[in-house]
Amino acid sequence: MTKARTCLTIVLAAGEGTRMRSSLPKVLHQAAGRTLLAHVLDAVRQAASGATVVVVGPDHDAVAQEARRIVPDAQIAVQTERRGTAHAVLAARDAIARGYDDLLVIFADTPLITAETLSKLRGALAQGAAVAVLGFRPVDPSGYGRLVMEGPKLVAIREEKDASETERAITLCNGGLMALSGRDALALLERIGDGNAKKEFYLTDAVAIARAAGRDAVAIEVGEEEVTGINTKAGLASVEATMQDKLRKAALDSGVTMIAPETVFLQADTKFGKDVTIEPYVVFGPGVTVADKAVIHSFSHLAGADIGENASIGPYARLRPGTKIGKGARVGNFVEVKEAVMEDGAKANHLAYIGDGRVGEGANIGAGTIFCNYDGASKHRTDVGKGAFIGSNSALVAPVTIGDGAYVGSGSVITENVPANALALGRVRQTIKEGWASRLRNLKAAGKKKDQG
Ligand code: UD1
Ligand code: MG
Repeated sequence: MTKARTCLTIVLAAGEGTRMRSSLPKVLHQAAGRTLLAHVLDAVRQAASGATVVVVGPDHDAVAQEARRIVPDAQIAVQTERRGTAHAVLAARDAIARGYDDLLVIFADTPLITAETLSKLRGALAQGAAVAVLGFRPVDPSGYGRLVMEGPKLVAIREEKDASETERAITLCNGGLMALSGRDALALLERIGDGNAKKEFYLTDAVAIARAAGRDAVAIEVGEEEVTGINTKAGLASVEATMQDKLRKAALDSGVTMIAPETVFLQADTKFGKDVTIEPYVVFGPGVTVADKAVIHSFSHLAGADIGENASIGPYARLRPGTKIGKGARVGNFVEVKEAVMEDGAKANHLAYIGDGRVGEGANIGAGTIFCNYDGASKHRTDVGKGAFIGSNSALVAPVTIGDGAYVGSGSVITENVPANALALGRVRQTIKEGWASRLRNLKAAGKKKDQG
């Protein structure tokens, strides 16, 4: 049996991203609910690409932090000056010197890269190549390095600024990502100079250097989409659109019913059970799980919510993080739920705020009920017992407990705990003044006659 090849993956994330016009480092922008860096590191992880070094720019602590969140044992290298892609790779010199079979260099702003493609690049090294790159044929090749081929062999990569007119006519371009034989990598990288139009150390020069040393270089062709790098907000939006299409297709393929999938926005981590239905215009934020046969009605916004079997959400529901909806529970129009559990069969059908608490099994929350969870300084919990009934337009002032099976009369302001099976009324008693309205009308009529007389 052959031993599995070891791999070091270097993710270049030192880009300034000035064209994003943002104070946020480019690779921390999000698509489908996770950072560009997270998408790339996820592909790396799926491809089981071994040890990982993330090369960050100076003052990019937040980038390092995000890298460690996704890959806890990621090493961080800092490129203090931006002097080119090869220079950036050499910021991870110590790791490279440890000696791996394969070295993968990936750009952190290329979030559509797949694990399969990374594995293909490594496969080329296993076949004996010293360098393997991704080739693609963009609609508009301007700005990209061109792949200079001799038959099936890659001879050199020429950056556009350094290319001759004939070389510029080449339509096969460099996708940017590269695999290098780990044993040769340091020697190759150290021979790269900065004698080019941009006075940068180009990683792409590794190809010609390897060839001059009698080694092979190959190009693997992929679709343009996979190597699309993000430089602008427009680029980010177009990658978002591509990801949404893929997520919708995956949801449909897994059996989710969507009447107008193009109006439903998903996240990379949205999870669905069987026979889920999603009506038009629903937005999923991060961390949502929807169990079998649940229905999400139109115009609902969900984030950080766990939705049980057969539950019905919306239309116009807002579920915020920490929400757990039990089996067959119902959350209707203009109901907001946050950090709260609605147990099996519980109902809040119209106009309510359920924040920081629990609604027991089968309990009913009337229209206009508010869990008053905030006293201006801290948040408090409201606990509504099993089978309780909260009359419409009630304010439950937390911390407060409504016992199992208790009733709260409509319009109550509840500030004290209600025992199980009791009725609580927290409102002014109704008074009746017989004939009051007729007397008022008579007085007004008399007044008018006096004015006219
Ligand atoms: C690079 C390739 C080009 C390819 C194109 C594909 C080189 C020399 N050229 O060009 O052949 O067609 O990508 O998109 O590699 N970076 C650093 N530190 C640096 C310089 C770059 O970390 O000093 C990072 C950037 O943040 C980015 C990546 O490396 O993630 C690529 O750099 P960029 O300047 O975008 O290279 P291109 O000119 O696009
Ligand atoms: Mg680029």
